[in-house]
Amino acid sequence: MIKFLDVKKINEQYEPELSASIKRVVDSGWYLLGNENKLFEQEYAQYIGTNHCIGVANGLDALRLILRAYLESEWMKEGDEIIVPANTYIASILAITDNRLKPILIEPDINTFNINPFEIEKKITSRTKGIMMVHLYGQNAMHSEIERLVKKYNLKLIEDNAQAQGAYYPLIPPIGGLEEHHTWKRTGSLGDAAGHSFYPGKNLGALGDGGAVTTNDDELAEVVRTLANYGSKVKYHNEYQGLNSRLDEIQAAVLRVKLPRLDADNQRRREIAQYYNDHITNAGIILPASRLSPLVSCLSHVWHIYPVLCESRSQLQSYLAEKGIQTLIHYPIPPHKQEAYKEWSSISLPVTEQIHDQILSLPISPVMIPEETEQVVRILNSFQA
Ligand SMILES: Cc1ncc(COP(=O)(O)O)c(C=O)c1O
Repeated sequence: MIKFLDVKKINEQYEPELSASIKRVVDSGWYLLGNENKLFEQEYAQYIGTNHCIGVANGLDALRLILRAYLESEWMKEGDEIIVPANTYIASILAITDNRLKPILIEPDINTFNINPFEIEKKITSRTKGIMMVHLYGQNAMHSEIERLVKKYNLKLIEDNAQAQGAYYPLIPPIGGLEEHHTWKRTGSLGDAAGHSFYPGKNLGALGDGGAVTTNDDELAEVVRTLANYGSKVKYHNEYQGLNSRLDEIQAAVLRVKLPRLDADNQRRREIAQYYNDHITNAGIILPASRLSPLVSCLSHVWHIYPVLCESRSQLQSYLAEKGIQTLIHYPIPPHKQEAYKEWSSISLPVTEQIHDQILSLPISPVMIPEETEQVVRILNSFQA
């Protein structure tokens, strides 16, 4: 069987360093807020290209804490509006409503599955305080239109980088070779603050939950760090009604082993995506397109997910399953149709709904071998609706 994602095989690549790093923590006798967390924070901040990184318990907390920090510093207040793509994973929206802020759902671009930048301005009001920009499926969502709106309306730009660790955004379209081009920035360093997830299935995955906030804003970094530690900077002195959200030492040590190989893993994902792009020829299956030139789109995407659209999605999924290919749906129910957000049930978002009805994620991971990708292509091309 070809698994959608073989996390065990992915982690075996890092042995024996992975087990050695866990043993190092066990032997140290120090399990929270120690050296591993401190070093990982430095290494990840350097990788992303920000001054600060704060390790937290998971990606949802990273986003919750950023917004909470803006509320504590009175940059935002309850009821203010945050722009967010309507087809995102629910966590981006939960982080907003958890802070009693109001999500304003924006349709995605059907070609990239990312927020459609040209649908944003008409939804901006005097209460709009930020944009939650989600780099969905691993593709950079930043766009010059978003940069323009952030400046024009003085908005905070919060990146949800849960799925796109390692992706780039070109500040100026590249001319010549990539190596000598110095104006690329990583997602997670493009806005005011970013939330990252190290859930085990992510491109940079821990062996349990983990997350981080990255930012260049000194004040925000300090408030997030304090909030994540019960609202306390000095033990037993509480400035805020905070929470307990920490990246533990074992996860930090594991991530330190995996981070140096992230670019190579992402490159392998790009090769597989390119192979799918070049060889899937079934007219009933729509491949993920990019609005960018091949050169730019290549580094802008880390292919956390390789999504296709198919009008006969459930038949396609069953056909692939019969032939031993595991696929998943990201995501079967859009946020505005979730029980948790009943108040939105009558909203119509046709692009989002089409995506949720037709999308299917093919197997992709750095440990897939060429025979497996060839088999996926062969079977997909033989599917008839
Ligand atoms: C887009 C997006 N945002 C936020 C999250 C939340 O991350 P976590 O699962 O670490 O809480 C996830 C992942 O699950 C995600 O895919």
